[in-house]
Amino acid sequence: MREILRGVLVLPLALAFVSCGGGEGGEFGEEEHITGSHYQGQQCISCHSFGGGTVFTKLNAADNDVNSAAAYHTVVLLFEDGSSLTAPRGRGSGNFQIPSSLNGKFTATVVDGNGKTVNKSLELSHTPDRYNCNSCHTQSGASGAPGRIINSFYYGAK
Ligand code: HEC
Ligand code: HEC
Repeated sequence: MREILRGVLVLPLALAFVSCGGGEGGEFGEEEHITGSHYQGQQCISCHSFGGGTVFTKLNAADNDVNSAAAYHTVVLLFEDGSSLTAPRGRGSGNFQIPSSLNGKFTATVVDGNGKTVNKSLELSHTPDRYNCNSCHTQSGASGAPGRIINSFYYGAK
């Protein structure tokens, strides 16, 4: 029994390792600094030319609470035209980058280190001006957002 359990546990770890090495790169480059502390919960665009945000493990996590950041998670935006955008991770645990121009309404989904969907917004509820995620996804939530972007289904799994 113990041997079987060990086999089951090793597989997801191996997959996580493979998916971290993979393909995205592009404009931002995601390999460096995807763990650790970097202004979690704050508005990336106040210091950078790009938007973005932070995935947390708690809906009401405070700014800079790196212990509540959801390491290796990121978001995938599903646009109304059928295209998608996977946000590069980092810098900092749970942080991800979003370009400041987005084409069309989108459903925001959260994925774990294996690429598995673990949370999503309501269908196509987000307009293209919503690239500065942490401006609404604050500790207590602003402009109708319930709080932080979290790594478990806010509306329940579907
Ligand atoms: C208060 C200002 C500030 C905020 C807010 C901030 N950063 Fe940064 N960021 C910096 C500085 C300064 C550097 C360069 C520091 C260094 O390399 O040691 C940096 C470097 C980076 C880098 C590596 C260099 C680059 O430009 O590609 C990334 C990626 C990054 N930040 C992502 C983010 C993300 C994502 C957010 C939002 C969740 C964010 N930052 C919020 C100040 C900030
Ligand atoms: C103008 C405010 C605003 C901005 C900016 C914004 N959101 Fe949201 N978000 C909301 C509101 C309101 C809801 C609740 C209704 C819904 O699900 O659409 C929500 C819900 C969510 C949820 C499900 C609930 C939760 O808290 O986990 C996710 C995931 C999400 N947003 C991700 C994102 C991502 C990723 C970005 C940036 C690309 C973003 N949001 C930018 C307002 C915003």
